[in-house]
Amino acid sequence: MKLFSFLKHLSKEDLEFYSQLKHHAVRVTGVITMLVRQLGEPDADKVVSEFLVDLGRRHFSYGSRPNQMELLGHAFVESFMYVFERDPRRLAIQESWNTFFTYIVFWMRSGFDFVQHKGIQ
Ligand code: HEM
Repeated sequence: MKLFSFLKHLSKEDLEFYSQLKHHAVRVTGVITMLVRQLGEPDADKVVSEFLVDLGRRHFSYGSRPNQMELLGHAFVESFMYVFERDPRRLAIQESWNTFFTYIVFWMRSGFDFVQHKGIQ
């Protein structure tokens, strides 16, 4: 007897994909934690932007595009907004998180563009 009959539709490739997705979500969460911790530091803007530019450079070789980074940001924020479901500041909180991701993607895109244009501005 099969407990989860729908699982027969999951191929080995699907499982590998879900595992990579989970692995990446943990990495994104790690970046967010690190950035939020850094925000209070005096040279936060410089340290954070340099880190994100480097991350964006590496993402060029991962085959990730800036529009996908934007999408990931929105999906990420959507995924935890249920926590604030009853909060009257829900919309403001969501907007702030989206603004934070706009900042993240802005600097990642800058690193990505640098590699894509081989350092020529
Ligand atoms: C806000 C956007 C994103 C953040 C903060 C982020 C963060 C990270 C981090 C911290 C790593 C670990 C490796 C490293 O430090 O170089 C990583 C790896 C990777 N990312 Fe992203 N990422 C983002 C968007 C994306 C998107 C949109 C894609 C693909 C469509 C992607 C694909 C990958 C791949 C293929 C790897 C290498 C494999 C792995 O380590 O999981 N990333 N990302």
